[in-house]
Amino acid sequence: MTESQRNHRPLRSFVRREGRLTAGQQRAIDELYPRYGLEPEGGPLEFAAAFGRQAPVVLDVGFGDGEALAEMARAHPGRNYLGIEVYRSGVGRLLRTLASEDLPNVRVIEGDAVAVLRRRIPPGSLAGLDLFFPDPWPKKRHHKRRMVQPDWLELIATRLAPGGFLHMATDWADYAEHMLAVVSASDAFTNPYGGFAPGPGERPVTKFERRGRRKGHGVWDLIVHRRTRE
Ligand SMILES: C[S@@+](CC[C@H](N)C(=O)[O-])C[C@H]1O[C@@H](n2cnc3c(N)ncnc32)[C@H](O)[C@@H]1O
Repeated sequence: MTESQRNHRPLRSFVRREGRLTAGQQRAIDELYPRYGLEPEGGPLEFAAAFGRQAPVVLDVGFGDGEALAEMARAHPGRNYLGIEVYRSGVGRLLRTLASEDLPNVRVIEGDAVAVLRRRIPPGSLAGLDLFFPDPWPKKRHHKRRMVQPDWLELIATRLAPGGFLHMATDWADYAEHMLAVVSASDAFTNPYGGFAPGPGERPVTKFERRGRRKGHGVWDLIVHRRTRE
């Protein structure tokens, strides 16, 4: 067992609070998951088979209702997008968007992104990973539930291809500082900006961002790259 496995926290970054889905949401999942969904359990995925083509794969962790993910998939038809989300009605919403627009370059996994990353995402396989507005867990005693931790970053470094990007955004100042500290302490990433990115880069405005901005929150983006070994 490695040091990071020993230290791996059993705590999850989410709490399932959802009640029953509406009949429409359940129908969308039943009908569309077989077309766009992939199973959370199993061995390493073969992306070319899962997407029906070979293209760079970008993973969106915790896509919420998938609005931003769908926008990125439209803007970058040459990329394959994989979204992972535990929130079932969000999965249902994204599935409906994919079907109504016939977006071919998105696949969806309903499940815990940390477990899926470990089991199903092959090492060195991702061109990029987006983590937009992860649950902030604002109370100090809950900070250990935050997704971004040194062992999470270590895991991401193994799944990204050399040079692959990690784009994180948050509207919580202390989470932003924590993200920057965790990334800066890792020698697996390079940061072209030395600190926070000057803007959102390719990231569309997300639903949670809009909500935060209405409350007067700032937004911090971090865009770093997996180091290519010299
Ligand atoms: C604050 S929302 C942000 C949603 C979206 N990225 C946006 O910016 O609008 C965080 C999302 O992460 C999801 N989430 C939290 N932990 C997760 C995990 N371990 N695996 C998958 N999704 C997770 C939550 O269900 C929630 O939908």
